[in-house]
Amino acid sequence: MMDILRAAVLILLITRGIHCSQRKDSFVFVILSQESARHTDAARALSSHLTAECKQLDVPCVVHLAWEDWPGVAAWTYFPLLERLSNAHGTNSSWVIILEEWVTVRLGKLVHLLHDYNPSQRAFIGRGLADKGESIIHHFTVVDPSHPLYYPDTRAGMVLSTVLVNRIASRWSAASTRPGSDFTIDAPYEFASFVKSDGVELTHHESVCVQEKPGCERYHGERLPIIQATWLKDATNHAIYSDVEDAALGTVSLGVPNTREGHCGKTLAIIHRAAELPSIQWLAVVDDDTLISVPRLRRLLSCYDPQDLVALGEKYGFAATTPHGYDYITGGGGMVFSKALVEQLAAPGVCKCPSDNTPDDMFLGVCLRKLSVPIIHSSAFHQNRPNDYPEELLQEGELPLSFHRYWMSDPLEEFARWLNQSSASERSSVSDSSPGSVHVEL
Ligand SMILES: *[C@@H]1O[C@H](CO)[C@@H](O)[C@H](O)[C@H]1NC(C)=O
Ligand SMILES: *[C@@H]1O[C@H](CO)[C@@H](O)[C@H](O)[C@H]1NC(C)=O
Repeated sequence: MMDILRAAVLILLITRGIHCSQRKDSFVFVILSQESARHTDAARALSSHLTAECKQLDVPCVVHLAWEDWPGVAAWTYFPLLERLSNAHGTNSSWVIILEEWVTVRLGKLVHLLHDYNPSQRAFIGRGLADKGESIIHHFTVVDPSHPLYYPDTRAGMVLSTVLVNRIASRWSAASTRPGSDFTIDAPYEFASFVKSDGVELTHHESVCVQEKPGCERYHGERLPIIQATWLKDATNHAIYSDVEDAALGTVSLGVPNTREGHCGKTLAIIHRAAELPSIQWLAVVDDDTLISVPRLRRLLSCYDPQDLVALGEKYGFAATTPHGYDYITGGGGMVFSKALVEQLAAPGVCKCPSDNTPDDMFLGVCLRKLSVPIIHSSAFHQNRPNDYPEELLQEGELPLSFHRYWMSDPLEEFARWLNQSSASERSSVSDSSPGSVHVEL
């Protein structure tokens, strides 16, 4: 067996929960910009990028350039956008996403992320900021440290369900519920206070972030020691693929530039490389913030034949119930492919990434549909952290095999608790691990 890490730089990520999604959300993007060429050029580039990504992933979306579509309305205070958005898209969109011109959007990850939320409820999602104490820029409003007002770091964008937009648009139009002050001092804060007056607080999501350095180097130091301390030693054959070589950590470059938005180029390069390896039976592609039990994976795979076309993992879907939709294996929990399938995926013309930064897991779903290979779902794989699932689900029945993401959790502890309690029978199957060379890349 061959375990290969795909170098991960998944910032705008992540999903919990909805398998085989029945939903096809539609998105309205609003790009705010300073009105000067340098800024508006960036905003237009973002708009074309979003439009292209939406088309590629078959996601219905509309992109507005605020200064063109609604000139002279002080869109930067957000409030004037509400009625306009509600009128234009109030009945036929799921989400409104307000962005500034410099932001990077990974559409696939955003779609994943929003699968976790219900667009028919009032939802407000972003990178949450909170004051430590009373501040002059926030009108000296008293801060309850145990329950501060979270307001969005708008450099990272903010997401509102259309239902919420409709609600607050009508509160904004009615004199009795409109904010009292004529001053705008810190627009995101004032906007969040207004949203809160309708009973909705900002939900902080780690995937909405500001500090993303290009490349994934920043993860080597943080993440590789964790996988080295937990499961990597159980993976007899593994390679850590990255865009940079790092001798100390044993990573090797694949020669595919790292992308900020998806890993299609890199993952397909891994698949091509694995197709050339004569002795492997299975390929497991995981992120560098995936925790996985290799013994349990081996045991599970002993039920399948690597000569068959097998794709195994946690099944998600994108518009899966429509003729154009597809199932896919969500990448963070681990994607497992039989050698026979790896060879087919690597065959010329079968699975060619539209671009290096296309979301890899979704695009592989498209390729699998093309090959008519069904995805075998296993509930042992998890796209999220143990805390994100009910304990009953994890404790009873099939033992969990993988988790994903280290955010606000201690991965060593989680590994020890959920993935390392091997039973005697598990241990015996560990010993039959296939020998092989170890090469580590990232
Ligand atoms: C909703 O319908 C209106 C009117 O047909 C259209 O202009 C708008 O773009 C639609 N919005 C979305 C998100 O599809
Ligand atoms: C896993 O369990 C083994 C045997 O009980 C123990 O030696 C090892 O330290 C554990 N590893 C982790 C990362 O918890």
